[in-house]
Amino acid sequence: MKIKSLLNFYLLNVIVQPLTGFNDKICFDSQTVLQSTIVGRLYEDVIIPCSFKIGSGVVIHWMKDEKYLHSFFKYGDYLNNQDSIYNNRTSLFGNEINNGNASLKLRRLNLQDEGVYKCYTSTIDNAQCSNIDLKLGAFITPAIEYQEQDRVDYLTCCLFGAYPSPNITWTENNTINTKSIIKVSSYPPFFVKSQLKITNSNSSYQCIIENSVLNQRWTGKWKSKDTYLTTEGKKVLFLCELKNEDFSPEKNINVSWYRVKNASSTILASFSRSSGSMVFDNRFTWTKDMMHERSNFSLTLTHPIQSDSGKYLCNISSIDSTQLMIQFLTVEPLPEKSSSNLIVSITVSVTIISVLLIGIGIGMYV
Ligand SMILES: *[C@@H]1O[C@H](CO)[C@@H](O)[C@H](O)[C@H]1NC(C)=O
Ligand SMILES: *[C@@H]1O[C@H](CO)[C@@H](O)[C@H](O)[C@H]1NC(C)=O
Ligand SMILES: *[C@@H]1O[C@H](CO)[C@@H](O)[C@H](O)[C@H]1NC(C)=O
Ligand SMILES: *[C@@H]1O[C@H](CO)[C@@H](O)[C@H](O)[C@H]1NC(C)=O
Ligand SMILES: *[C@@H]1O[C@H](CO)[C@@H](O)[C@H](O)[C@H]1NC(C)=O
Ligand SMILES: *[C@@H]1O[C@H](CO)[C@@H](O)[C@H](O)[C@H]1NC(C)=O
Ligand SMILES: *[C@@H]1O[C@H](CO)[C@@H](O)[C@H](O)[C@H]1NC(C)=O
Ligand SMILES: *[C@@H]1O[C@H](CO)[C@@H](O)[C@H](O)[C@H]1NC(C)=O
Ligand SMILES: *[C@@H]1O[C@H](CO)[C@@H](O)[C@H](O)[C@H]1NC(C)=O
Repeated sequence: MKIKSLLNFYLLNVIVQPLTGFNDKICFDSQTVLQSTIVGRLYEDVIIPCSFKIGSGVVIHWMKDEKYLHSFFKYGDYLNNQDSIYNNRTSLFGNEINNGNASLKLRRLNLQDEGVYKCYTSTIDNAQCSNIDLKLGAFITPAIEYQEQDRVDYLTCCLFGAYPSPNITWTENNTINTKSIIKVSSYPPFFVKSQLKITNSNSSYQCIIENSVLNQRWTGKWKSKDTYLTTEGKKVLFLCELKNEDFSPEKNINVSWYRVKNASSTILASFSRSSGSMVFDNRFTWTKDMMHERSNFSLTLTHPIQSDSGKYLCNISSIDSTQLMIQFLTVEPLPEKSSSNLIVSITVSVTIISVLLIGIGIGMYV
């Protein structure tokens, strides 16, 4: 056994490997082939784990699809046989190798990096091979949008980079709705867009996007909340409150208020932990105790005018959900007539009476 190992070591490490390349057969011949699966994120870095029994004369070869990624030989990196697609993207943990850690860091993952990696390690009295299956996932910027097109309201959920193609489920009042229209780009990473018509503005809608590889889930919610009626100059309080069942208190959330008008929206106020609370239209004010409680994101409009009538939207977002709440405002004109209105009506009345009198006069002559 010892002699065989020594012979192996001499053949593999000293003669065969650095010169002619690593023979895949060695992985099958060696005593142990360990299999494991890991998950990496597209465009990010990953550490592919591999460990071995400590010994002297360490040799490490990382391979995938007959290509070399990284080799370690004679106390240093050996990159002469590295495939160019791995240039500048690989490294071992130099200080950890003596502790039996042959893990490889692979940077800036792309779709071609998915697959089985072989980690071959040998010392003077041991040789080992591990197969590590790298699965890739992408879940880049999910979002929900609310639009009005030709008097019909639509919700659109999209994902700018998805891999594998995600599952999107829509619900209306917590019942699955299958009437959405989905568009997916032809090539990965997929651009995914799913649209649903709002058929009942009293319902609450949700889209749930899931990626089983990354075990990630995102929810976009829409609800038409309240309708407000006020008169010019009489302040309105738009309610937007956080419910604990929707967001746990420790979660980092962003809140923003918009005026939605003619398919475009204008930001009125925003709140985030990093930027604090901001107001972009000084007729609006946040609730006083908002900063302490971080749960009451209601907004006050102090002096509404008739043209403020319309749709308002409160957006509460966290890393795994966005909640849109629509509010409707109607501002009525002041009930009492102003003096100029009075003059106009008197003038109109006098004119009508005159016309009538003239009419009567003409009638009498005929
Ligand atoms: C190897 O070292 C790296 C860097 O310290 C660490 O992240 C990784 O978990 C280690 N792997 C093993 C198998 O010990
Ligand atoms: C790797 O980095 C070196 C120097 O940092 C650079 O000259 C070379 O072009 C890079 N190679 C690739 C494939 O990016
Ligand atoms: C809601 O807020 C999030 C995060 O602040 C933002 O990315 C998103 O575009 C907003 N959505 C709408 C419909 O305003
Ligand atoms: C929504 O509810 C209001 C009052 O609850 C009702 O007047 C209205 O007709 C409902 N609209 C729809 C589309 O069901
Ligand atoms: C959903 O619930 C709301 C109120 O809870 C109700 O007004 C609406 O009609 C429901 N929608 C459907 C499709 O049943
Ligand atoms: C979509 O759902 C099906 C069935 O639940 C599951 O097998 C599949 O892995 C899911 N795909 C993704 C990308 O989550
Ligand atoms: C609303 O949008 C349509 C098309 O985007 C445009 O033609 C129209 O002038 C807009 N109306 C107002 C009041 O801005
Ligand atoms: C939120 O703040 C407004 C204005 O201060 C108040 O009227 C409302 O009751 C508050 N809501 C909750 C749940 O505290
Ligand atoms: C909240 O807003 C900050 C910038 O103010 C941004 O960096 C962060 O990504 C946002 N978080 C969410 C969950 O949208």
